[in-house]
Formats: sequence, C-alpha cells, structure tokens
Amino acid sequence: MTIRYEAEQKLFHLQAGESSYVMHILPSGHLAHVYWGSRLRHVKAEHRLRPVSRAFSPNPDPSDESFSLDTTPLEYPAYGNSDFRQPAYQVQLSNGSTLTDLRYVSHSIRPGKPKLEGLPATYVESDEEADTLEIRMEDKLSGLQVTLSYTAYARWNAVTRSARFVNAGEQKLRLLRALSMSVDLEHDQFELLHLSGAWARERYIERGPLRSGTQSVESRRGASSHQHNPFVALLASGADEDHGEVYGFSLVYSGNFTASAEVDQFHTTRLSMGINPFDFTWVLDPGEAFQTPEAVMVYSSTGLTGMSHTYHELYRTRLCRGTFRDRSRPVLINNWEATYFNFTADKIEEIAAAGAELGIELFVLDDGWFGKRDDDSTSLGDWTVDRRKLPHGLEDLAERVTRRGMQFGLWFEPEMISPDSDLYREHPDWCLHVPDRPRTVARHQLVLDLSRQEVCDYLVETVSRVLASAPIAYVKWDMNRHMTEVGSARLEPRRQRETAHRYMLGLYDVMERITASFPNVLFESCSGGGGRFDPGILHYMPQTWTSDNTDAVSRLKIQYGTSLVYPVSAMGAHVSAVPNHQLHRTTSLQMRGDVAMSGNFGYELDLTTFSTEERELAKRQVADYKELREFVQYGRFYRLISPFEGQDTAWMFVSPDQSEVLACSFRVLAEPNAPLQRLRLKGLNPSLDYREVDTGEVYGGDELMHAGISLPRAKGDFQSCLFSFRAVV
Ligand code: DGJ
Repeated sequence: MTIRYEAEQKLFHLQAGESSYVMHILPSGHLAHVYWGSRLRHVKAEHRLRPVSRAFSPNPDPSDESFSLDTTPLEYPAYGNSDFRQPAYQVQLSNGSTLTDLRYVSHSIRPGKPKLEGLPATYVESDEEADTLEIRMEDKLSGLQVTLSYTAYARWNAVTRSARFVNAGEQKLRLLRALSMSVDLEHDQFELLHLSGAWARERYIERGPLRSGTQSVESRRGASSHQHNPFVALLASGADEDHGEVYGFSLVYSGNFTASAEVDQFHTTRLSMGINPFDFTWVLDPGEAFQTPEAVMVYSSTGLTGMSHTYHELYRTRLCRGTFRDRSRPVLINNWEATYFNFTADKIEEIAAAGAELGIELFVLDDGWFGKRDDDSTSLGDWTVDRRKLPHGLEDLAERVTRRGMQFGLWFEPEMISPDSDLYREHPDWCLHVPDRPRTVARHQLVLDLSRQEVCDYLVETVSRVLASAPIAYVKWDMNRHMTEVGSARLEPRRQRETAHRYMLGLYDVMERITASFPNVLFESCSGGGGRFDPGILHYMPQTWTSDNTDAVSRLKIQYGTSLVYPVSAMGAHVSAVPNHQLHRTTSLQMRGDVAMSGNFGYELDLTTFSTEERELAKRQVADYKELREFVQYGRFYRLISPFEGQDTAWMFVSPDQSEVLACSFRVLAEPNAPLQRLRLKGLNPSLDYREVDTGEVYGGDELMHAGISLPRAKGDFQSCLFSFRAVV
C-alpha cells in the first residue's frame, strides 16, 4: 500500500517511492497540506501545522483567531473566504457571486490508477504499482462537488494529481478556473527552473531565485508551445545537478497552461499548475462534470538528476504506450531539408537508395505529396496524392522504397486547413473563427475546429484512408501554427470560452482513434519542431521531433534542456546539411552525427550528394548507432557538463545493467592554451572494471567516476568525442 489514512488524526499519508506526501482534514473540513519530502515513517499534523493569529488574516470562525485560511498550507484553495493567495479554482454561481467553500465529505483509497476520461495520463500495468486516493469535497450551498485524485507510485517518487468537478446542485455554474494541482511549501528558499524559448530555440533552461510575489510561465497560444514548456521545478537552496531537494511539476496537457509560484508575506511558496484560466470558462449545467488534466509531481533528494530519472522512467514506461514503447526506434532519412516541396518519385527513390546503402531503415516523405502543394500556401486538408509529383501514387512509391529494404513513412498536418483548398471551399466554417471577424492566417493556414465532432470524424476517416492505402510504417504528425480567433461555429455563445480546451479533447480523441487503429505504425509528433513537446502528446505518440533547428551546436542546448523532463527515446535528432539551413553554421559531419546519435537518430539531407568519405563516415555512424541504440534510447541518461555554462557540453548513457556505457563530449569554440580537461562519469558500478572499446584501456568504475577520463585537446571549433566502455566480465 502506498497510501494510508490515519483516522484518529484524519491524516492521509502517501508514500511514493522514497518520498512522503501528507495531508490533513482540518476541523473546519478544509484540506491542509502537511508535508512533502523524503519518506517518513509517520508524521503528526500538529507537529507541522502551527496556527497563529496574524494581523489582516481574517478568521472564518470568530471564536478562533489563530485560524485563517490565509495562513494555512492548503491543498486545493478557494478565493474569497480568507485566503488571499492564488486560488486553485473559482466557480461563478447563477447569482453572479464567485464564492464557494469546499469542505471534506468522504474519501476512498483503491489499488491501481483509474483512467482519466478523454485525457492523456500516466497509467499502471498492474494494481500493485500504485494506489489512488480520491477525496470528495463539497460546497453545500451550490451543490458543487469536487473530487481530488492522488496516485502514489510505489516505484517512483511521483504523485499524480487531478480534480473532477460535478454540478450536483440545481443552478447553472460557470467554472472560471480549474487547476490540476496546488501545493503550499513552508518556505521560499527555492530557485525556480523552467524551460523557455522560441521556434528553433526550444526548452532552454532558465533558473533564478524566487522573490516575493508571483512568477509564472504560461501558454496562451492554444498549444503547449515552443515558448514555455508545461514544466517547472523548485530547487531548494544548494540543490544542483546531483544534490539537494528538487520538486518537479509537469502537466500532462498540450494546450494553454499556467504554472505559477507565489511567495506570500510569510515567505511560504504556493506552486500551482493547470489549464490556463486566461480566456477559459467552462459551463457546468446541473448534472455536468469537468475533468482537469493530470499534473505529475516528482520529489528528488538527489538534485535534478534524480528528478529527471523519475520523469524519464515514468514517462517512457507509464505514459507512452503502444507497440513502439519498448521497441528500438529505426534510423530514418527524411527528405524535408533535401528537397523541400520540390521532388519527384524518382528523386525520392534515389535518396532512399542512398540511405539503404548506409544501413538506414526508414524513409520519411515529408510535406508536399498531396493536393497542389508546391509551397506552403495551399492544400492542407486535401489529403489526396499529387499525381504530378507521384504519378503512380503512394502505394507505388512506398513499394519502391520498400524494395530497397527500407520502411516507408509519411508526413501529415491533419489539424490545419489552407484557405486555398477544396476542403475550405466546401466547409468554410470548419476552422476556428469568430463571426464577422477576419481570420488571421499563419504560414497561410487556419486551424481546423476540432471541438466539432464532424471535423474530428473527417480527420480520422481521411488520415486512416491514406494509412490503409499503402504500406506506411511511420507517420510524422505536424502542426505549424498557433490559435487565433478562438471560437467555434458549433458552440452556443455561453460556451465559446470552452473552445480551446474542447479542441484539445477533440485532438486527443482523434489521436487515440487513429493510433489505436494502426498499432504497427510508429507516430512521431511535431509542431514546427518542438512546439508541442509535452507529456500529453507523448501518451499517443512515443516520440517528438525535438526542434526544426538541426544545427549541432544549437542542438546541445535544446537536447540538454529537453532531457530535464523527457526521455531520450522521445527525442528525434537528425544530421542535416551544412551550412545549416537554420543557423548557416558549418560543423563537421562527425559532430553532427555525434549529437544526433544522442536521440532517435536520422538524417535529413540529400544523401545522393555525399562524397565517398562522407558516405563511409555516415555508414559507420549508422552501424555504431545500431550497436548503441538499445541503451541510448532505453538506458539511464546523465548530464555531465551544461552547455548553458560555457563552451563544453557532456552527457552519457548507461545500460540498465551498468555493463555498457557511452560518454559524449562536445566543445563549441576552441580556446588558446586551454587547460587539460577530465570528464568524470556517473552511474557506473564502482566495483566493476570497464574496457574502453576504441583503445582497449581498462579503468575501474570508481576511477571513471571519481578521477575521470582525460579529454583530448580540442583542435579547432565544433569538436566532439564519444567514449564507449564495456564492463569486463
Ligand atoms: C515543420 C516541421 O517541423 C518540419 O520538419 C517540416 O516537416 C515542415 N514543417 C514541413 O512543412
């Protein structure tokens, strides 16, 4: 059992892995937060909660001046009845008031973890893996019922949370805010870490001390976005990569989100996360329910490494699903940067043939194969083959590729519609729009209204038809703009502010139906690169195109930042041509390969232009990757040197049994007369000896970790070096 209820002191004690998360039902019926940190055998609420009378902190019970919600650490706070901090939820009643007051009614604890209806979430494979606690709260006056769900995993320091709202009263309610979680930590000695960026610069690490007031990251773009990832961490004083207490918060959602840290007047910290309340309202008529997405909270006493390892294992094995969850991911060649829209079937076959010679396993035909799409101004929505480019259709092309010994994959951008398309001419109201307002285009396209059932059905049908028409083994599911004029022709006026979330529910439904119907297709999501690299999408598609930026130097920061939360098996990484198409920087094929081999490896250039030497090197890279990929994709990943701190970057992979090791070191700019450098490895077995594969030199595991290996002196800019070790048996 990972969860117990101590009836005498009305205390819930969740023991997730090596952590404890504790709550207490106050005499008032409010739910107080008691403790979250290293695992405790037992704890007393009165040791932790210290009611004191404070000026300007009002008292709901006039006879008890020491009790104010403003000074109490709470689990799912409201606003308006003495707590002035950020509320977790807010509901408007039919009389216009926004006051509700949730009090404890009952609870249940059960083995396992139920599904979240219509939403992506972590799961269990057997009931022994976790317990779930459901706490039912009620606002008597309005009939609003809220069930707070907590799952504690036995194997990981991970607690998942969500809330379900039910209108059990007789009046119409409006949900103005419905976050997934809120927690009050008893001090403010934290740094806030989050992942921010832009297109081609995704998930750069930002880190700084908390200050009085509120710091937040959010998306209002209708997608989790390149700009901010739905993840934040609090690092207690002194915490770093390997030491100290870190609290991670990750939202399993792909739309608008908020994550905020509020430091109050008494220097406590309230961390809350969920759907962004900005431009969100959900109508709850009598009998209706609303389910929030899931937040995954991870505690680590071993710094960021411990936190990342928990997210990696949990997300790889209990968030991702399907045939490819545990299967080696193929080495691929994608034609996008090789040809863009300008290709013929013969050209594609030539690239595929060149790829087959190198040992590449999958050819991916990117944008431009349908409608009349010679550039990005047309045809999204018209998913019929462009016979000018592929006169004998997809089936013929797929067969030509397959005959070369490779699998065939295809690009789609199902969620979009070009104003210049047959679909738009037939259904001009199928896109998100607001009556009488202009429709803002981005990349010449509009967003389909996935809050509408018939649009979702159309997508499932059309994409499925193409997938069934040819031997297609892989799909790249792209999405290349954010939402504007967020309104739906199908929703009544009072429900217009539900559109963005209904879109996400529609998208998840479409993804669920298509991926379930094609279990042997490997799906990779993409949104202008990594604009929707989030746990929500990973539930349906086990890998994501990490960034449109394929420059090896830029990728160091992008892949390093992404690794804070997401497993390596989720990251697509390709070698592209030089000068690089995004940065115009020239790096060696060696370095481009070494960086890309730290993810799901592939190429994205015209392989037919390779010189003999380049072909030889690429052949070696593919062969090496096939040897290493099992533990690159599924082993433990350790960050060694951060690209955000200087010219050097290093990281490494260790197989689950610690017998295989790959350490990767990169240098961006050379320095004159630089010091000699050593690289200390992590995660090895100190009692084993390891042989370096290239040199045959034998080192102790303890030596590699504590004394390190010598790095070669960098000669020139943009250098990389891989070290492979095998345990000596
Ligand atoms: C954006 C993606 O990120 C690229 O890889 C490519 O697929 C283009 N879209 C195609 O339009």
